[in-house]
Amino acid sequence: MLVSAKEMLEKAVAGKYAVGQFNINNLEWTKAILQTAEELRSPVILGVSEGAGKYMCGFSTVAAMVSSMIRELKITVPVALHLDHGTYEGCFKCIDAGFSSIMFDGSHYPIEENVEKTSELVRICREKGMSLEAEVGAIGGEEDGVIGMGECADPDECKKIADLGVTMLAAGIGNIHGKYPANWKGLSFETLAAVQEKTGKMPLVLHGGTGIPADMIRRAISLGVAKINVNTECQLTFAAAVRKYIEAGKDLEGKGFDPRKLLAPGVEAIKATVKEKMELFGSVGKAD
Ligand code: 13P
Repeated sequence: MLVSAKEMLEKAVAGKYAVGQFNINNLEWTKAILQTAEELRSPVILGVSEGAGKYMCGFSTVAAMVSSMIRELKITVPVALHLDHGTYEGCFKCIDAGFSSIMFDGSHYPIEENVEKTSELVRICREKGMSLEAEVGAIGGEEDGVIGMGECADPDECKKIADLGVTMLAAGIGNIHGKYPANWKGLSFETLAAVQEKTGKMPLVLHGGTGIPADMIRRAISLGVAKINVNTECQLTFAAAVRKYIEAGKDLEGKGFDPRKLLAPGVEAIKATVKEKMELFGSVGKAD
């Protein structure tokens, strides 16, 4: 059964560790992440972007696949199915489709509009027992080949949004999606500490988990980060493993072209990446 992310994140704040959000793209991705979480007894959040939702034939297809997989694979650790960087409309689609958690990314709206839309979603999510993530301070990343630097959120605006009653808050602290450029200045712990001071026990979310050095991850967790999003790193390790298989000519040997064989090294690579992250985030064994 899918659960809201509320309880797992409150436990993470109290226990000073973070729960990983791993984005899914297809059946192989989902299975690899769920099996790893179960094996390591770790709570887990499956992230679905609007683009990935579309690719997988809509949010209701995704919700049905994940729920069935949890049942068929006998997954017993807490699993939240979460919309990643949702638009206002996308949030309603996921509420209807049976997701257990959503992110409303209102960071590009003026703060008043972000407050208004977030408040409405707080009310609905409460009614439905779902968790809600809000964002303040846009998180940069590569768009059309240009890498935008991450913004730093205004701690007072963070407090304003946190006080609306959201479950978790993503605050920009110089983090970006995708690979970090060579001249990246690192996370702004000054901003993070100021946000934590204003928002108290609110679970904070660190986006752009790919490529952040381990010591920065540990320091971020010590300052209230309880959810860390990872997407690109699984894509990179998956692609490298499948590339290796094909370059070695294995798809040309026997039935090596069978997609179940061809994608298997990629699946193993995702499992290894997820395991490494769960160990670093400290969520191993925290499901019970
Ligand atoms: P990365 O792709 O950089 O790991 O970021 C993932 C993310 O933050 C999803 O919201």
